[in-house]
Formats: sequence, structure tokens, C-alpha cells
Amino acid sequence: MFADPMHLPLAYRQQFLISMLTVAISLLVACNSTDESIGTLTEPPGQDDEPIPEAIAFNNAVGFEVFREPHGRLPVPLKEPDAAALQEFEAGLPAPVISAPPGFDTNANNAPFFSNLKNLDVFAGDTVAIRFAPEDLDGDLPGMFYEQLPLGGAFPDNRDGSKTFRWQPLQQDVGIFRFTVVAVDAVAPGYRSSQTVLIRVSLPEDPSSIPNVAPMVESPREYTVRVNDPVVLELKGLDLNGTIPTLELPEPPVGASFVQHPVFEEVFVLKFTPTVAGEFTINVLARDSVDPNLTTTEPVNLNVLDSVDFQASGLPLRELAQNRDFKIGFAALQSFYHQPDGALYADFAAREFNIVTPENSMKMDTINPLPGRYEFAATDNLVRYAQLHDMQVHGHPLVWHRQLPEWIEQSELADREQHMSEYIQRIMERYSADIDVWDVINETVDDDGSLRGNESVWFEAMGELYIDKALQLARSIAPAATLLINEFDISMAGDKFNGLVQLVERLQARDVPLDGIGFQMHLFDNFSSFDELQDNFAVVAALGLDIFITELDVSISSGASQPSTTELALQADVYRQVAGICIQQPACKALQMWGFTDQYSFRSNFNPLPYDRSYQRKPAFQALQEILEISTPETGF
Ligand code: G3I
Repeated sequence: MFADPMHLPLAYRQQFLISMLTVAISLLVACNSTDESIGTLTEPPGQDDEPIPEAIAFNNAVGFEVFREPHGRLPVPLKEPDAAALQEFEAGLPAPVISAPPGFDTNANNAPFFSNLKNLDVFAGDTVAIRFAPEDLDGDLPGMFYEQLPLGGAFPDNRDGSKTFRWQPLQQDVGIFRFTVVAVDAVAPGYRSSQTVLIRVSLPEDPSSIPNVAPMVESPREYTVRVNDPVVLELKGLDLNGTIPTLELPEPPVGASFVQHPVFEEVFVLKFTPTVAGEFTINVLARDSVDPNLTTTEPVNLNVLDSVDFQASGLPLRELAQNRDFKIGFAALQSFYHQPDGALYADFAAREFNIVTPENSMKMDTINPLPGRYEFAATDNLVRYAQLHDMQVHGHPLVWHRQLPEWIEQSELADREQHMSEYIQRIMERYSADIDVWDVINETVDDDGSLRGNESVWFEAMGELYIDKALQLARSIAPAATLLINEFDISMAGDKFNGLVQLVERLQARDVPLDGIGFQMHLFDNFSSFDELQDNFAVVAALGLDIFITELDVSISSGASQPSTTELALQADVYRQVAGICIQQPACKALQMWGFTDQYSFRSNFNPLPYDRSYQRKPAFQALQEILEISTPETGF
């Protein structure tokens, strides 16, 4: 289809020539670079990186052992006082930022504004009160809202069209805080003026003048758990005076354990097993570490359901998928066994899926945060869970331009190839016996079809050849593994998909090993390019490559917290059609979702997954069941 470039439109031919030139230059550079095999640039993983068994009081894993990192906290880099923020503060009150809808005639309407405001210089312990009274020369009273309140801050209404920002900054708040209020035009709500006030908080000469305020408990969100499942609640004390409170349970649940974390002293973990269904409130007391009489009690709510409330009709997805060489999977929340509903999460996922991707634990900034330091525990635990439930593991990602540790972002250009090689070698060697599908290259193509340039530290150092090198090295380490290039926004016709295909053709022309393409597919409920998706699958299949749907989710565009029946049906139809197109395409080997319950989604506000927050199946789940039920070798669909 793209074999003979001359038949392509001129723009494509130009792009093709540019890409070939880029490669030629990169090859020249690569040939000239001296191959100084100077040993390793950073320490390989050692015994001091091996995770150690975690006490069972800290997790609710069922059937597999959880290990934790052997290291202490990651060192927090000392932040220099932010020079830019200081300069901005000295420059005086920032100018308001005016915004208007496209095509709005700002000459015909005065923007709302605030007057009599100025930056503030205060000490920790002082009381800040700033009155915001929005005005409009057209005479109407504008509305207003704040962008972000600091902990302990308030913005009460004065019932006269104005509001007052009240705050008592403490030790935790030393530095420059930006408080922004947006005035909204009364006639044209899209016409707004955003005003920031900068507040510089310094420590007073005598810190004992700072009032000692009561500690707080970082309240975890609402959870649904199941009767007779072990529940763990990681509770974190917080004190705005910068100290660490102790936490206590005045009325602990029967049989509960409540233990301070061995590394994070501000965290106390409650573990217990609810034996009856119902709404539970557990009161947690935080006691000030300076004045023991200063305490706060906060409620933590749990909704405990009976197993019968999770009735599942029909066969599990993985059973429906197993009668063909097909994988149905999800991305696993990192350390789900530390969540209150972790046991329920693990049980449902094991019932429905036969392949799992670590959502975050294998990203370079997580697994190799410092040169020579490796954090394997979360990935090791996921591999153990997967082995327990006969699930394949999908390694994600090896080489990505995002989620890179600072030491890589700031590395020398000349060192990057070796850093990349050492990283791939070390991660794949550790997991190659357990992981046989890899997103070797993640998100390398830009929206216009060209490769991400200097946005990628890897391209910046090696040009397009970083892709060749990564794939060749991965093949040499794990010859039997399935090696993928994983991309988003390639589910429809367009420059990005064409650019990806041209990249694949260049790689194939250079005999670079590649087994498949990952279609991430982060969709919305208004997705309708099903024919184009089918065509794109056909193009990739014609290149002799497998197709993995790697990160499917279908966001409900309205963002409604309780989507309507119509919205849920629309979402289900997108799942149904995508699954049908995959099942019909022999090269499509897997349908993997980016999570499975809306309780844990990177787009949680759009309820994009087949289970809701209370682990109840949505129409989208039934749609997947239908397609997998229909699709048997007999039906051929
Ligand atoms: O774990 C830290 C926590 O300790 C810290 O308190 C908190 C606040 O700073 O951050 C937490 O890390 C966050 C991490 O998710 C775990 O929640 C990172 O800031 C946040 O950037 C990270 O977002 C992930 C994102 O990739 C970037 O890595 C999302 O969860 C994840 O769903 C998303 O997944 C990507 C795929 O890897 C690639 N394809 C696109 C997809 C969606 O963006």
C-alpha cells in the first residue's frame, strides 16, 4: 500500500525523504561515534535492590506474597528557593489574564476586574484576609470562583458581592503561594478575568509565636468492599505545623490490627475483615506530637456489600476468550493490595482477565529513580499475582519520552545510548522469564506523523536509530518475546497513522525486529471511526504484524458523575464495535483495557471502564461478553 513512494502525494514524498535523510545522518553519526565499551555507566541492580517480605498487616493480598522495597524513602531533592517565583513576587501584583470564547467581541464588552489588590508579605502564623470584590464597567455584578485553596484556607461570601480569602499560613507553607480568583462576566460567562495574588510566607524570628494547630487525618475516598475480604486502610496523619501526629483508633473493628508503617512514619495501616454487610464508619484520632492534648477525630466510611451484591451472570471474559487464541486484559493499579478494596479488585480481575499490564510500576522514573537504585517490589508483586492466576504479563513501557527520572533527563547526550541499553538489559533480564509481551517503544510518533524530536531524550541523542537499537537489543535478550511499538490516536485515518506505517516500513527495510503494533485506544463515547479502525488494522496486518489493543477505555464525554442510561449505552456500543473489529481481524491478538473499574482510572471523572466504582458491571461489560460469546471458531466472528 505504501511500497512505492512515488505514487504518494508530494507531501508524503517530502516527509519520506526527510525521514530517510534523518536516518542517513543518524547512521553516519552512529558509525563515527567511538565505541568506548567503558564498562557500565550506572550500577546494575544488586542485592540491596532486592525487595523484602512485607508484613501481612500492611496488605490484603490473597494467595500471593507481597514484598516491599528494602530502601528507605527516596531522598527528596532540597528545593532551592524558587528564584523565578521570587522575581515574580518582587515584580508586584501579576496582571489579570483575560479569556473569552472564540469569536467573542471583547471591544463590545468590558472585562470584569478586581481593584485594590496587592501581593502580601507575611510570617507563618499571621492571619491573611484578602477581600475580592469583582467589578464590571458595564454595571453588572460578575460572579467569581477561586482556582485552589491551600489546606486550612477558606473563601467565605460576604453577602455583598465580595468574598474574603482567609488563611493562616504555617510552617508547612513557607515559600510563595499563588492564590487565584476568576471573575466571570455576568452577561457572557465565557468572558473571564483571572487574578492572582502572591503571598510570601516567611518563618518569624521566634517560631514559638506560631500557633500549634490541631493535626488532621488525610481522609481516603469512599470505598466499596466485600464481606469476608481482608481490608487494609492506609491512614496518613498531617500537621500543618510540619510535625508528624500519631494516629489512634478509639473503637477499632473486631480483630483489627493497626500498625505504623516501618518506612513512612506518618502512615498507620488498619487491617481487618468485615463479617457483615452495611455502611461502616471508623473514627480515627490524630494526636499532636507537640501537645498530646491537641487531637482531631475524623470518620472514615466503608460500604461493605455481600457477595450476592456482586452477582455476575454469564461466563467470565477470559473463559469466553480462551476458546480462541485471544487475550482479554487490563492495566493493574500499582500496589492494589494496599487499597481497602484490593482483595475484591484482585479477585474480579483474576476471574475476568488473562493478561495484565502494570499501569505505572515499570515506568523508568518509578523502577529506576536514581542511578544504581531500582524499585522492583511493585512489579515483582504483580508478576507473582499474575502467575497465581495464570495471567500473561505485558511489560510497559521500556523506552518512552515521559516519566523519565531526572538523572536521565539531565544526562549527557553521548551517554544516552548506553543508559538506554543498560536499562533495557536490566529490566528485561529480570523479567524476561515472566513477561513475554513488551511495549519496547512507547509513543514515538507525533501528531503530524513525524517522530517526536527533541521532546524525546532518546531521539535527541540518537535520532530515529534509538528505535532500531532498542528493538534489536530487546530481541537479543528475549528472542521469543513479542515486541511492540505502542501508540495512541492511530485508531483513525490521518497523518499519525500514516507516519507510523512509514516508520514501520523503514524499520522493516532495515530488518529491525518488530512483532506488532499496540493501539492504545483512549476513546470517547462519540468515537465513530470504526471503518477507519478496521482499515488501519488491515494495513498493519498486511505488514505482517500483530495488533494489540493495549489501553482501551471509552470516556463518557459529559463527565457526569452518574452517567445516564443513554450515555452508558453509547459507551457500550463503542466497546462492542471495537471488540467486534478486533475479533474479526485474525492479527488482533489482545483487547486490553486501561484498568477495569472506574474507581481506578486515569480518567476516573469520565467513568470510562466496564465496571463502576462499586464493582458493578456496566452495559460496556455486557457488550464485551456478547461479542466474545458470539465469537467462537464455529461462528468465525
Ligand atoms: O505515586 C505518586 C505519588 O507518590 C504522589 O504522591 C503523586 C502526586 O505527585 O503522584 C503519584 O504518581 C502518579 C502516578 O500516575 C501514580 O498515580 C504520577 O504523578 C502520574 O503522572 C502518573 O500518571 C500516569 C500516567 O500514565 C503518566 O505515567 C497514569 O496513572 C497512567 O494511567 C498513565 O498511563 C499512560 C500510559 O502509561 C501510556 N499511554 C497513555 C496512558 C494515559 O496517560
